[in-house]
Amino acid sequence: MLEVRSKRVEEKITFRKRMRLSGRKKVSIIGSGNVGASTAQRIMEKFLADVVLFDIIEGVPQGKALDISEAAPISGADMSVMGTNSYDDTAGSDIVVITAGLARKPGMSRKDLLEKNVSIVREVTKEAVRRSPASILIVVTNPMDLMTYLSWAISGFPKHRVMGMGGALDSARFRCFISDELKVSVENVHAFVLGGHGDLMVPLSRFSTVAGIPVTEMMDKSAIDKMVERTRFGGAEIVELLKTGSAYVAPAAAITEMVEAILRDKKKIIPCAAYLEGEYGVKDLFVGVPVKLGSTGVEKVIEIKLSDEERNSFFKSVDRVRSGVDEIKEMLGNF
Ligand code: APR
Repeated sequence: MLEVRSKRVEEKITFRKRMRLSGRKKVSIIGSGNVGASTAQRIMEKFLADVVLFDIIEGVPQGKALDISEAAPISGADMSVMGTNSYDDTAGSDIVVITAGLARKPGMSRKDLLEKNVSIVREVTKEAVRRSPASILIVVTNPMDLMTYLSWAISGFPKHRVMGMGGALDSARFRCFISDELKVSVENVHAFVLGGHGDLMVPLSRFSTVAGIPVTEMMDKSAIDKMVERTRFGGAEIVELLKTGSAYVAPAAAITEMVEAILRDKKKIIPCAAYLEGEYGVKDLFVGVPVKLGSTGVEKVIEIKLSDEERNSFFKSVDRVRSGVDEIKEMLGNF
């Protein structure tokens, strides 16, 4: 009798509560393509959370999850990585990462692609947040700043629980180029990138440092300008080399950095697309700015004073993001 009762009680405990009781965290990744699967692998290898990989294609998330799980014994990671085509398996996630989307195909216009990804991100956000109403959303699908706005509007979540991944990747690229140029450890290099995740982003060399020394003290302007340009087109450079496909290793590392900052409550300052309500003179838009990431999500937007030139470049980027959001609003009529 007692046994039957305790079984029933156990059944009533939701998956989320079980995860909490065991102290384990749960991250669901919607879209099990290159970025999604690589992120799952990194999260497992860093022992951060149990991972659910979701995709609409049958077999793909299951196959990738199994492959990653079979590497876990070698990593010594007791994390579960499961693949699924059912949103129910994502229920009670602490973090939901959205990487679902389509890549541009030959003959597809920018607008066609935007329409497709708007409809995908809209659908996956609805389904995911219904099962994980207390989660934090990290949006990766491009055009990321726009998709983050859409996901936030659809979710109804407070602003601190929705963010886009872009700046973390852009600043990692900038750091890579600086350390390569100066032949110094990547650990010594910090970089600062503002604005939308696109070719109008603003890598700020004035706030990018090598062991605390501004990079402007260590390199001449033309060398810095070259690296800034390379960072702006960092994604395109990889697409050009790969011919088919786009970057996924560094994007997965950047997502994992954000996941770790949140799950370990690190209060780490990372550039992310965050909802602005007047910071940097921007309202009602997600744009890349340095934020403090901790257990509640975006805990603070870090504001710095920009020079006139920096502000002009930043607003060019902001204007482009705003016109993209307006285009989506027009497309959907209503979120
Ligand atoms: N629901 C769930 N998954 C979907 C849906 C949907 N409605 N539509 C597409 N997907 C899945 C695809 O089946 C595919 O497995 O999204 C995955 C996308 O994976 P890839 O094509 O490999 O793309 P990836 O390189 O992972 O990039 C994902 O991140 O950096 C951005 O620009 C990039 O928007 C792209 C996203």
